[in-house]
Amino acid sequence: MKNNPKLTLVGAGPGDPDLISVKGTKALANADAVLYDALTHPDLLNYAPKDAPKVFVGKRAGQHSFTQDEINKLIVEYALNYGHVVRLKGGDPFVFGRGQEEIEYVEAFNIPTEVVPGISSCIGVPGLQKIPVTRREDSESFWVITGTTKDCELSKDLALAAQSSATVIVLMGTKKLALIVETYRNGGRKDMPVAIIQNGSLENEKVVLGTIDTIEKLAIESGIGAPAIIVLGEVVKYHPKSGLPNPSKGGALLNLQRF
Ligand SMILES: C[S@@+](CC[C@H](N)C(=O)[O-])C[C@H]1O[C@@H](n2cnc3c(N)ncnc32)[C@H](O)[C@@H]1O
Repeated sequence: MKNNPKLTLVGAGPGDPDLISVKGTKALANADAVLYDALTHPDLLNYAPKDAPKVFVGKRAGQHSFTQDEINKLIVEYALNYGHVVRLKGGDPFVFGRGQEEIEYVEAFNIPTEVVPGISSCIGVPGLQKIPVTRREDSESFWVITGTTKDCELSKDLALAAQSSATVIVLMGTKKLALIVETYRNGGRKDMPVAIIQNGSLENEKVVLGTIDTIEKLAIESGIGAPAIIVLGEVVKYHPKSGLPNPSKGGALLNLQRF
């Protein structure tokens, strides 16, 4: 057994390796082993020492994917055998990342833990497209909702959120697009702007912009798929290519009066 076993959960950001934090890169440089997920950029592993084992524990087509239980056990095994384990996770470890479960499991073995937050795709990916999740006069709050619960269902929270003026960001929801559209349409919101962003921050990023009435057709035509986020809300009209009326383009005087 190694001295000083430790776990650091590091948020890798949404994809672009430059979007990890400086603290995240320092944790990697001090790692004795790295366990990394599918949505983390492979270049990030170069921050870790050459001789530190780097173990892929994500889901990739055609490969064995680890259960959460197996991952928890692996973290403890590596911490006891190697020392400092960095668990590199996509986005932020605590946004649909199961980070808390890993901390709880590891701490039960009296192994100390630390967290380095990351830029979550739910804010960072729309932001890179110049879609603000909040904006005065358009959106006073935002909800981040899963499209795939433990039972593989769209979260029931969507029906509540769809009745509000909040910006809604759905993760893991591309296969539930029809249901999301139906929920908004039933609420009389057929003109609500919608953006779907796949592989945000990466070279193969893809964006589809529309409204509740048009988005399904546009999504099919474009062939957009996972991993993607779906952004629903008036703020989507601030995307430079939305083609939707943008009140802030009302003139310089109007803007000056507002701010
Ligand atoms: C298991 S969740 C993890 C979310 C992550 N912890 C975060 O904070 O971004 C994975 C989902 O996040 C979204 N996602 C992550 N990275 C993305 C990216 N670069 N572009 C679009 N969606 C992304 C997708 O909805 C994907 O299915």
